[in-house]
Amino acid sequence: MSDMSAQVGIVGAGPAGLLLSHLLHRQGIGSVVLEIRSRSYLEQRVRAGVLEQGTVDLLNDCGLGVRMRREGLIHHGVELRFSGRSHRIDFGELTGGRGITVYGQQEVVKDLLRAREAAGSLPRFEVADVSVADLTTERPVIRFTHGGADHELRCDVIAGCDGFHGICRPSVPDGALTEFDRTYPFGWLGILAEVAPSTDELIYARHERGFALHSMRSPTLSRFYLQCEPDADPADWPDERIWDELRVRLDLDLAEGPIVDKGVTPMRSYVVEPMQYGRLYLAGDAAHIVPPTGAKGLNLAVADVRVLATALGRFFTAGDDAGLRAYSETCLRRVWRAEHFSWWMTSMLHRFPDDQGFEQKLQLSQLEYVTSSAAAAASLAENYVGLP
Ligand code: FAD
Ligand code: PHB
Repeated sequence: MSDMSAQVGIVGAGPAGLLLSHLLHRQGIGSVVLEIRSRSYLEQRVRAGVLEQGTVDLLNDCGLGVRMRREGLIHHGVELRFSGRSHRIDFGELTGGRGITVYGQQEVVKDLLRAREAAGSLPRFEVADVSVADLTTERPVIRFTHGGADHELRCDVIAGCDGFHGICRPSVPDGALTEFDRTYPFGWLGILAEVAPSTDELIYARHERGFALHSMRSPTLSRFYLQCEPDADPADWPDERIWDELRVRLDLDLAEGPIVDKGVTPMRSYVVEPMQYGRLYLAGDAAHIVPPTGAKGLNLAVADVRVLATALGRFFTAGDDAGLRAYSETCLRRVWRAEHFSWWMTSMLHRFPDDQGFEQKLQLSQLEYVTSSAAAAASLAENYVGLP
């Protein structure tokens, strides 16, 4: 058994855990990050791709924006397609010039890992048997194994940044947290293809056969999603079937290229309240998830960590715990707005298998409203680019 200590012990090296470690380091606060996966796995895991202006600003402000400014694609609108029509939601016009940046989550993670490396503070990768204890004391502990040996990390605070399937949230005693949950009767099949995007801006398409999304990562890399069964097996989706389906649902003359990544994501909305128990603070997917239709998951994780890093700064430098006491309430206001927006976008654009027609009529009415009323379009636009 080997003993270590840190001011903050961080479980999970996703965007939330890595960014928290970086923001704490900039305030002179030490942290240790523990991660069950390898570095190359984290750098290759394809996930989200849309960064809100607030996320971009934060990454720039803390010295992480150099490559993002060079390689990120700035977009000032998205397209909605339905009933054979196409309509552009103009973010620039509707939100006073704001936009989004298309830059892959795995690129953000690479930039974060490089910054941690330069600071001599990389996560401990490939740890196992992680558990947390003594959460209501002033010295909570994280236990784990690494390289076959048992370790114990004593901290002042633990940040649970271990995603939806992590161990931190389930370590809280029954009854201390309240869960809010909604599962959807479909999933998304996501692919990455080595081909120039067939569109300048993202296309969200509602189609009788189900939802489809055309996104991108770079001028030579396209990202697509198709609504599928929640438990679909990617093996049942040969490349040919994917391209045919994309072409029909997007109603687009698509350029094809080699598919280099294929995976199915189930769709779920979930929030736990409060996002804290004793000295354990939950951030990102560990506390809440959204269906990806609103492109909010990664942005919410970044917003939580911004609040937590500021609160921990006050706590460690001035002994003031007001920010930590307000942490959950502060974050949950933004979380619930994003939950609503993601649920709303999902409801408007997907085919619900048990719908008798009523839902479809509502969807079409809502789409017509959003694409004909400036007030309704502005509401979509300001939520999509991110509220302050
Ligand atoms: P994560 O990125 O999940 O990071 C958690 C980390 O903790 C992981 O590295 C994990 O390996 C590690 N971990 C887990 N358990 C332990 C443990 N016991 N001990 C130590 N470490 C542990 N959002 C979008 O907006 N658009 C998308 O297209 C999109 N696609 C997605 C596809 C998938 C398959 C998933 C799972 C999510 C997707 N999301 C998407 C959501 C978005 O990627 C997440 O909201 C974002 O990753 C949240 O960051 P995080 O750091 O909170 O959690
Ligand atoms: C992506 O590019 O991965 C992406 C874009 C928009 C979404 C979800 C995912 O709503």
